[in-house]
Amino acid sequence: MVKIAIFASGSGSNFENIVEHVEQGKLKDITITALYVDKANAYAIHRAEKHHIPVHINEPKDFESKVHYEHKLVDLLQQEQVEWIILAGYMRLIGDTLLNAYEGKILNIHPSLLPKYKGIDAIGQAFNSGDKFTGSTVHYVDSGMDTGEIIAQQQCDISTDDTIETLEDKVKQLEYNLYPNVIAKIVK
Ligand code: GRF
Repeated sequence: MVKIAIFASGSGSNFENIVEHVEQGKLKDITITALYVDKANAYAIHRAEKHHIPVHINEPKDFESKVHYEHKLVDLLQQEQVEWIILAGYMRLIGDTLLNAYEGKILNIHPSLLPKYKGIDAIGQAFNSGDKFTGSTVHYVDSGMDTGEIIAQQQCDISTDDTIETLEDKVKQLEYNLYPNVIAKIVK
């Protein structure tokens, strides 16, 4: 069994989708040790409770520095013998402490066809761009914002009758297939 931890900051629908894939035997040989959140009010916590997944809540503001915050996370991850970190809506750059401890073993999903539309509001950026399509990208994490090596992408149309909300929904639907597929291939 490969042990993974999932990091989230908000809704956690990708987190829950991965949990359901594990529960349904669609992600074999993977165990989720815990959900790690950096916000005490992240809705993802409720989803974790529903599925009986342990939750670690650590808010960076409660630590002396980012290095101290990430040292705490590395301690917890090592106690749980986590081998891979899966970012799913974790709204924070990963610092050297975590990157050094988990070199080449951190994945992220981003709601655009990178290298287009890095950073926040990627769907809004794509919607307002006049582009005819957008999508989602899974990539390795490095010290930059959505700059790590791309592993896989999936695309969808932006049609003239789309709103931001319908486009968000389309991209999420792509993500619910894309991320588990990549995890199944890469996380070993
Ligand atoms: C996803 O669209 C993901 O690409 C991005 O943040 C969003 C998280 O959504 N990194 P959710 O919290 O999984 O619903």
